[in-house]
Amino acid sequence: MAKRLWVCGIIAAGCSNGAKMNPPDGDVVNPFPGGTIALGKCGYSVTTREGAAVPVLGTPMLGSDPKPWGIHLGLAADPTQSMVVSWRTQDDTTLATTVQFGVGDKIDQTVDGLTFAYETQNRAPVQIHETHLCNLLPNTTYSYRVGGKDGQGQEAWSAMSQFHTAPSKAQGDPQVVIALIGDTRGNYPLWGQMLQKAWMLAAPDLILFSGDAVTFGTFQSEWDDYFTQAEPVLRRVPMLIAHGNHDLNAVNFFSQFAMPGDEAYYGIDYGPMHLTVANDTPSPVSDLQTIGAAFLEKDFTVSESATWKFLLHHRPMYSAAVAHGGDMTILKSWGPIVDQHKIDMVFNGHDHNYERTKPMRAELVKSTPAEGTTYVVAGSAGAPLYTNGNGAWTAVSKKNYNLVILRVKVASLEMTAYDDQGNTLDTFTINK
Ligand SMILES: [Fe+2]
Repeated sequence: MAKRLWVCGIIAAGCSNGAKMNPPDGDVVNPFPGGTIALGKCGYSVTTREGAAVPVLGTPMLGSDPKPWGIHLGLAADPTQSMVVSWRTQDDTTLATTVQFGVGDKIDQTVDGLTFAYETQNRAPVQIHETHLCNLLPNTTYSYRVGGKDGQGQEAWSAMSQFHTAPSKAQGDPQVVIALIGDTRGNYPLWGQMLQKAWMLAAPDLILFSGDAVTFGTFQSEWDDYFTQAEPVLRRVPMLIAHGNHDLNAVNFFSQFAMPGDEAYYGIDYGPMHLTVANDTPSPVSDLQTIGAAFLEKDFTVSESATWKFLLHHRPMYSAAVAHGGDMTILKSWGPIVDQHKIDMVFNGHDHNYERTKPMRAELVKSTPAEGTTYVVAGSAGAPLYTNGNGAWTAVSKKNYNLVILRVKVASLEMTAYDDQGNTLDTFTINK
């Protein structure tokens, strides 16, 4: 049984089954059966997978060391009017789960969030604090802090931070800046440096992570390093992540990130783009050709009118790297669906190098982006580099740590790939 966190929201797709509950006649009560909590103000529910406790509203209780840490932002619904703030406390026992926030420099609004624990390997359970902010204003900067109070009036709060909501279609055509990054396992200080580089280069509105955050998804110590390094940027910029093979479909993965839908397969609109995210290492793996393919067909169909259509998943269909190369099963299963729906770009990781393809359709090289899909491997922000290569499809191939910045407007997409020093590896433009 997969251990995952489900978020079935108002824009969710593919939320079909609930979490396991304790059997009524069982002799042993499972403290981590998963469960659901409805968020009335947001209009959706949050469901934890087996391996995590039933989520409950935070209560006014501070533990021995309630200092918040690992604060990071996610998106579970319409990004023009919502944001999710997740964090831990040093003691992993505090239950107070409150966000104070407001427009600009104010913190004149308060929302209590949900909290739940999940089981880990070789250490005490982790306590997640997750607060969903809804009914926000689009294209607006908010200030916030996280923490809470106990029943005796003691308080514990984080430092102040800020986030910015996505623009609505009614607000014209502001440029949306997206950072693409992935494969951080093994070198978390570099991951932190790469995120800071992305922030300094482009101050992205949204970060896309192509999977393989950690070496073993069930090992909490790696996740602790990952979020420690990420906090300075992820407390300011929301991130959406695709599941990678090293993430092991672990309860750790699905508990720590807040994402739309079932968090394995989901779609979301952001500015002029529709982003589809899919798990290409499901359990069982045969789900790739059934549930995965059906989800792509469904999500691409409902987003047919989007100006820009992007797909994010982990293992590339096209890669000339020596280590893995393109995955034929995914290419044969998902490639025709990408072709049929004329997806503009596909973002991957898995091979620890940088590669951009020429426009591809039906496994053939095409002349212009209007005739085919461009595939990008942005596959190392920490993981050891692999030897790159060149295939018939390859436009640019580099053996470097890398991150990609996309600047997207309705009529144009400008993409620049950088190495870990901020040097340009590649530039690419598509005009609609
Ligand atoms: Fe991988």
